[in-house]
Amino acid sequence: MIDQRKSYECKYTHVRRCLIALTFTALTLSLAGCVHQPNQTTLYERMGGETTIDAVVENLLYRIADDPEVVVFFANTNIDLFAESLASQLCDVSDGPCNYEGPPMDRAHQHMGLTDVHFNRLVEHLDAAMQEEGIALGARNELLGRLAPMYADVMRLQ
Ligand code: HEM
Repeated sequence: MIDQRKSYECKYTHVRRCLIALTFTALTLSLAGCVHQPNQTTLYERMGGETTIDAVVENLLYRIADDPEVVVFFANTNIDLFAESLASQLCDVSDGPCNYEGPPMDRAHQHMGLTDVHFNRLVEHLDAAMQEEGIALGARNELLGRLAPMYADVMRLQ
C-alpha cells in the first residue's frame, strides 16, 4: 500500500516537472518571437506607410518653397509629378509595395549645378519633414542611410 502511494507520488512529481519544463520552453519561444518582431516589419511600415510618406513629401515641398537657395532649382519642374515620383522612390527604398520607375538619379539631376551645400540642405529639409510627420529617430536615420549612397549618382553629372 505504502509502496503504491510512493509510486503515484513519483509519477505525479514527474508529470509536474514535465509541465513546468513545457511551460518554460513555450515561454522562452514566445519571448524569442517578441525579440525578433522588429525584423519582421519593414522600414516602410515603421515610417507609417503611404499616408505618412505622402505627408512627408508635401511637408518637404513647403520647406523647399520657403528656401530661396533650393527653390530656384524647381523653377521649371512639374511639382505634382515630382511629388509622385519622390513618394514612389521613398516607398521603394524603404521596402514598401512600390517600384520606382523614374529616371536614374544622375540623369534626373544632370547639369543643375548642385553642390554639397544644396545636397545637405535638401537632406536637412527631408529629415525635418519626417520629424514633423512623427517618424521616429531610428526609422529617419535608416531612411537617410539608404539615400546617402545616392549622393554619388546625384552629383555625377553636375
Ligand atoms: C538623395 C538626394 C536626392 C534624392 C533621393 C532625389 C530624388 C529625386 C527624384 C525621385 C526626382 C524625380 C525624378 C523624376 O521622376 O523625374 C527628383 C527630381 C528633382 N530633384 Fe532630386 N533628389 C535628391 C537630391 C536633390 C537635390 C540636392 C536637389 C536640389 C537642391 C534636387 C532637386 C531636384 C529637382 C529640381 C528635380 C526635378 C527635375 C525636373 O524638373 O525634371 N534633388 N529628385
